[in-house]
Amino acid sequence: MFVGIDIGTSGVKAIIFDGDGPVLGSASASLDVIRPHPGWSEQSPATWWDAVNAAMHQLKSTHPDQLAAVSGIGLSGQMHGMVALDSSDTVLRPAILWNDTRNAAEAAELDSDIAAFRNIGGNAVMPGFTAPKALWMQRHEPELFDRIAKILLPKDYVRLVMTGEHCGEMSDAAGTLWLDVAKRCWSPELLAACGLDLAQMPNLVEGSEVSGTLRPAIAADWGIKGTPVVAGGAGDNAAAACGLGVTGPGDAFVSLGTSGVIFAVTDAFAPAADSGAHAFCHAVPDTWHQMGVILAATDCLNWLADLCNMDVPALMAEFEQGQQQNPGTPAPLLFHPYLSGERTPHNDADARGGLFGLSRAHTRTDITRAVLEGVAFALGDAIDVLAKAGNRPNALLATGGGAQNRAWLEMIAAVTNCPIEIPADGDFGAALGAARLGQLAAQNAAPKDVASVMSKPDITAQIDPDPTLIDAYQAPIEKWRALYHAIK
Ligand code: XUL
Repeated sequence: MFVGIDIGTSGVKAIIFDGDGPVLGSASASLDVIRPHPGWSEQSPATWWDAVNAAMHQLKSTHPDQLAAVSGIGLSGQMHGMVALDSSDTVLRPAILWNDTRNAAEAAELDSDIAAFRNIGGNAVMPGFTAPKALWMQRHEPELFDRIAKILLPKDYVRLVMTGEHCGEMSDAAGTLWLDVAKRCWSPELLAACGLDLAQMPNLVEGSEVSGTLRPAIAADWGIKGTPVVAGGAGDNAAAACGLGVTGPGDAFVSLGTSGVIFAVTDAFAPAADSGAHAFCHAVPDTWHQMGVILAATDCLNWLADLCNMDVPALMAEFEQGQQQNPGTPAPLLFHPYLSGERTPHNDADARGGLFGLSRAHTRTDITRAVLEGVAFALGDAIDVLAKAGNRPNALLATGGGAQNRAWLEMIAAVTNCPIEIPADGDFGAALGAARLGQLAAQNAAPKDVASVMSKPDITAQIDPDPTLIDAYQAPIEKWRALYHAIK
């Protein structure tokens, strides 16, 4: 039996499966984001551990026999967050998350002054990444910065609690921008640019390798009989790719989670920093990927639902009912989804959301449609960036909570002009990908065995781009793009 634990932004999810069939059980626990100032986004690492524990105790009560037999665990997590630890592994400050844009000045400075970030790190330096967070801390919290003994990513902090090891893996480490992405090792040069050195970094393994062993006391508390190995695991996007079998060149997915992602596998390190595409390691050996990331996807729906004092399912039910009168007609107004600034393609921490063209006649359904379309248009920009980087996907598997929404997928298929494949019912997310990495580690699998474990789900439906909708979107998309530049 294998367990996958995904430390997301809005919650932790744990799944158990036997290495072959479907997911046998899952459990989750929610997390809150702290926003002390506009543009800031933080979480306390202790809340991740509490949520992991809560989810694992739920699994213990629903699946005690299966959990007892676990031999491998994989971790997945929100990427780029900075956990700063002192020499006794005490957390120095709340973690600064992937969608925190306070360090825009430091990111711009590293990007313009240190060419190695684009050459060795393979990416333009953007505020979400870890490197500019450290520079921000050096400048704004120097006493704390001087006490940093280790910097860990979110899931790697959870690993430390679980195993006692300071260890990371390639896919998430690439998102710090301190990795030599081609060679899959830390770059002393990139670390030095942020006042750091190798001793402050964790060891690195591949996602499918063993990183440590679960502490006996935790195994006993979770009702696990032995002491399972903990695999390197993956950043959440690479983990979702593993769950979907997106591990071969040409494979791609679109993820609608808090963030929105278009992810495409490459057979070699393929930096395309000028295009704005991210180029990172995949979680399995000798594999890399590119992706375009928008900072708010389902987060835009959460925002709208909060504002309307509703929950997202109620908002979507109302939308679907409202659409019956006007199926497939673009909203009469436009929405910029830049509620947390934007990464792909603008790399603009100061970008902000907007609703344009409101009139007294507009309804909540119109606004919901505009919000869904605004996110779809932004994913259209992301796929254009991948096309510029030479890696336009031919089809996208759909994943993430928002992928339950067929109308949204139809919009995205039309905007990206790319067929979208809907997996059969089941749980193919980052937690499954993490569990599969746990399986590979527990079985000490060779790289050639990766493909058989990382199988693709059955596809229940394919949404082809609808030519009428493609035409209908042309004018609104042009206007929507021009508006960003006009307002900037
Ligand atoms: C990827 C990114 C987000 C987070 C969300 O670069 O920042 O997708 O990983 O958890």
